[in-house]
Amino acid sequence: MSADTTPSAEGPVPELRERAVACAERLQSADRVLLASHIDADGLTSAAIAATALERAGIPFETVFAKQLDEREVARIAATDYDTVLFTDFGSGQLDLVAPYAADGAFTPVVADHHQPADVPAGIDEPAFHLNPLLFGLDGASELSGAGASYTLARALEPPERDNRDLAGLAVVGAIGDMQGTDGGLSGANQGIVEEGVAADVLEEATDLLVYGRQTRPLPKFLEYASDVRIPGITNDENGAIEFLSGLDLDLKDDGEWRRWVDLTMDERQTVVSGLLKRAMASGVPADRIDDLVGTTYTLTDESPGTELRDVSEFSTLLNATARYERADVGLAVCLGDREDALTRARKLLRNHRRNLSEGLQWVKNEGTTVEDNVQWFDAGTRIRETIVGIVAGMAVGASGVRGDIPILAFAEKSDEDVKVSARGSHGLVRKGLDLSRVMREASRAVGGDGGGHDVAAGATIPTGTQTEFVAEADRIVGEQLS
Ligand code: C5P
Ligand code: C5P
Ligand code: ZN
Repeated sequence: MSADTTPSAEGPVPELRERAVACAERLQSADRVLLASHIDADGLTSAAIAATALERAGIPFETVFAKQLDEREVARIAATDYDTVLFTDFGSGQLDLVAPYAADGAFTPVVADHHQPADVPAGIDEPAFHLNPLLFGLDGASELSGAGASYTLARALEPPERDNRDLAGLAVVGAIGDMQGTDGGLSGANQGIVEEGVAADVLEEATDLLVYGRQTRPLPKFLEYASDVRIPGITNDENGAIEFLSGLDLDLKDDGEWRRWVDLTMDERQTVVSGLLKRAMASGVPADRIDDLVGTTYTLTDESPGTELRDVSEFSTLLNATARYERADVGLAVCLGDREDALTRARKLLRNHRRNLSEGLQWVKNEGTTVEDNVQWFDAGTRIRETIVGIVAGMAVGASGVRGDIPILAFAEKSDEDVKVSARGSHGLVRKGLDLSRVMREASRAVGGDGGGHDVAAGATIPTGTQTEFVAEADRIVGEQLS
């Protein structure tokens, strides 16, 4: 590793680690802690990491989840009789709301997050309880996730008799769930966590086919649904996928049942990959897209082969399937090791989540987007659940009817009064100046809502009926950023 040139490649920068130690001290002096986290894969893994670390440190705690941290939610937390509150995977975007409570002594906060921080009101010091990679020159959308920030805190909370490196696996699930990886895998402080997980024997890093479902999908479905890189005659073509596999001169069935990727030997995998690459080239798939077929994958070595939990990407989808459907308790229990009732329940939720994603995606492709000068948008109303409309928007980018070169805004109904907006961009656009976190914050505030997030992906809540005004405002700000 060339860790000398990039300090972050070896793990968190020293300043981040120091901040983690200061935050850990606050928690260690608490009688008990309220742990509040976000309802997605990164939020669940953040909570599981923090909960395990608190437990090992002998600090009593209770865990709660919220869809978003807004004024009402912060007030609700302040009204509990907890003196110390640990926020994970949110809190930075709401520092303006949290800091005054801290200044008043209503509660002692600790925030372990990676979202763009809000400005702290004038007269209040830059908080010492704020653990966020963005404060120390790391990118919160690609170099450290909420789970990574929580992991850094967990390492600072270690009791003398043991270390917390076994929690690195969950931190990687969180980072991948937040789409922090590229085909080259994780980078920055995330890569430092990967190395700690490998050293602790909980994680394996490999170069493999970058197709979703390596652990659980029978081979034809595995290839058929591999839509990130479209291979004509195989992608979205069940018969084509079966024909391709049957033509490989391999024994890919076991007792008449198709085997899964994980069941294949290295040699067999190699044969399939070569066949796929050949087929892709012959059908004119561009070389750089073909390269995207293979990349870095992460496996949790303590989990049973052939389960969703073995592959970090499948694990993160399983978690989204719980938390985004008001069952964060189920996902948290799975993260904490329940392989009985919670896992069974999570698998059922996963089937439902998959169906919703595929129906949502189909709807967007059919409807297409409305294109403005600098952004495109669709309004799903009640057709797509507001908690997954951002995932659907991300999946739709570049599909038929949806442009890949401008940001996408996606609306879904939240309640009679409120609409959820999700925004997704690309790293290329971010390099040109796009910062969706600012776009969502400013455009939503202009119409009486609020929002935030990351430069490449952000969200907001706005009052029902203000969509048109919001789009105009967002379109204008994006135009300014990209000019
Ligand atoms: O709240 P949080 O930070 O955990 O969520 C990050 C969101 O941003 C995820 O929904 C993730 O899919 C999205 N994202 C994205 N593209 C990226 C990075 C993140 O769509 N390159
Ligand atoms: O909800 P969605 O997946 O679109 O969120 C994208 C990113 O924006 C996430 O990191 C989320 O935490 C953030 N977000 C936010 N404030 C909101 C909505 C989303 O900071 N009101
Ligand atoms: Zn996150």
